[in-house]
Amino acid sequence: MRHFLSVQQLTKEQIMDILQSADTIKQAVPALPQQLFAANLFFEPSTRTRMSFTAAEKRLGMEVLDFQAAGSSTEKGESFYDTVKTFEAIGANLLVIRHPSDDWASEIPADLSIPVINGGAGKREHPTQCLLDLLTIYQEFGRFQDLQVVIAGDIKHSRVARSNAFALKRLGANVHLSAPPGMGDPELSFPYISMDQAVKNCDVLMLLRVQRERHETEVETVSYLQQYGLTLEREEQMKIHAIVMHPAPVNRGMEIDATLMECGRSRIFKQMENGVYIRMAVIANILQEWGILDETAFNKCEAAGGKGRP
Ligand code: CP
Repeated sequence: MRHFLSVQQLTKEQIMDILQSADTIKQAVPALPQQLFAANLFFEPSTRTRMSFTAAEKRLGMEVLDFQAAGSSTEKGESFYDTVKTFEAIGANLLVIRHPSDDWASEIPADLSIPVINGGAGKREHPTQCLLDLLTIYQEFGRFQDLQVVIAGDIKHSRVARSNAFALKRLGANVHLSAPPGMGDPELSFPYISMDQAVKNCDVLMLLRVQRERHETEVETVSYLQQYGLTLEREEQMKIHAIVMHPAPVNRGMEIDATLMECGRSRIFKQMENGVYIRMAVIANILQEWGILDETAFNKCEAAGGKGRP
């Protein structure tokens, strides 16, 4: 892959390879041949994505350049293009970018000499979130084929819904959406069902945050939970093996009853744990493809007993 910007650029086989690498990498961290710098360019708030990329980069032995637009020369009017060129000039070997624009990838300099990984693009794509969600589902069920997956909530504003719906469909899952009036997305051509139908039928219930900052009128917490969220009563209707996911941050008591966040079927914190391994795998993969990381690095480590960097 050149830059990693969309999960749609991956074949089914490439997706499965990355999920496999994420499992392997827990045991066998590839050896870096030299000092390498990862620059995390975050033009939008983030906790999980920024910190799990940071953890992944450090676990791979990379130095981390941590950029947040607030407090940077972006506030003096420096463009996205010039910011990217600046990090290339000062020696970054890899860029991770999150930006509120759907289309920031089109502004990546055509001759950029280092790889870019998408850490979230407006409402369009969040490919590493998608991969960590896929890993979480695969660990649970060992397959995607014929799984009943419902993505529920503020679909209209969700880059996670978009990335996951297309990837899951491609992998053979039956994907339904569930959204309150005005929170659906006509561009996503998947069937819609009610939350009451969703909880009874699904194997995977993927809840989405109500993105209050993008709504013109206040969405009322308690009535949202009662009408569209995962209440205690709805949770009892779920199949015995069904799991609950949420990319987080969570509006506790809104998308989900606060006491269900850490219930037996919740995989919300598992998703976050998996995020570190998926990001390690994506970084190792792209560094190998760009010739920055030796292709044999994994093998050398496995030969050393798979107990971390030799
Ligand atoms: N899931 C997710 O992208 O969380 P952050 O916004 O905290 O990175």
